[in-house]
Amino acid sequence: MKLKATNISFKYPSAKNYLLKDINLELDNKKIMGLIGDSGSGKSTLCKILSGYVQKYEGEVSFDDAPLPKKGFKPVQLIYQHPEKVMNPKWKMKDVLGESWDVDEKTLSEFGIQKSWLTRFPQELSGGELQRFSVLRALNPKTKFIIADEMTTMLDAITQVQILDSVLKLVKERNMGFLLVSHDMDLVDTICDDKIYLKDINNI
Ligand SMILES: Nc1ncnc2c1ncn2[C@@H]1O[C@H](COP(=O)(O)OP(=O)(O)O)[C@@H](O)[C@H]1O
Ligand SMILES: [Mg+2]
Repeated sequence: MKLKATNISFKYPSAKNYLLKDINLELDNKKIMGLIGDSGSGKSTLCKILSGYVQKYEGEVSFDDAPLPKKGFKPVQLIYQHPEKVMNPKWKMKDVLGESWDVDEKTLSEFGIQKSWLTRFPQELSGGELQRFSVLRALNPKTKFIIADEMTTMLDAITQVQILDSVLKLVKERNMGFLLVSHDMDLVDTICDDKIYLKDINNI
């Protein structure tokens, strides 16, 4: 599988200058890659473009040589840094998760999710507990590629390792691609086979 970005350029309508310029990138499921960049350098924006959440940009993103689908299920799933921002506060966790896929009990327990959490609302869980749901929600059986955008930045070291271990195990089992986006060089060096610096591929 191949996630390919060709000559991606992007500017926010309110901004004077381009944030991303002529970015070329090719990712696959053979290596766990890390993307590193300073805060504000455009990592999250690039993630949204690569996963199809931002659709107005210059250049092309392709997945297995076809454009990303504009509607319906997204084969490239994005895990956000702040899960609470992308969950409906009026939904119980079992519905938040169930909207994506029907997760079996074994997987729930592998991700350290307790049954009692399923009947709570997002605001009734801690950041780490919520992030487990957010990660699992992205791991729909149809998912081919995961982009984890600073997904564990807010968590303590032990929770961070637990969640990443669970994800990477599933990623390997299912032969998915994985891109870890972070400003934390040590984490990237620990987890990833290889790394890319955004400033090296961004021609602004
Ligand atoms: N929706 C938006 N509208 C305008 N500017 C934005 C928007 N989102 C982010 N930005 C700006 O774009 C720059 C890059 O943001 P971001 O992609 O979130 O960087 P990073 O993830 O590397 O911290 C920042 O200067 C930020 O303020
Ligand atoms: Mg970011």
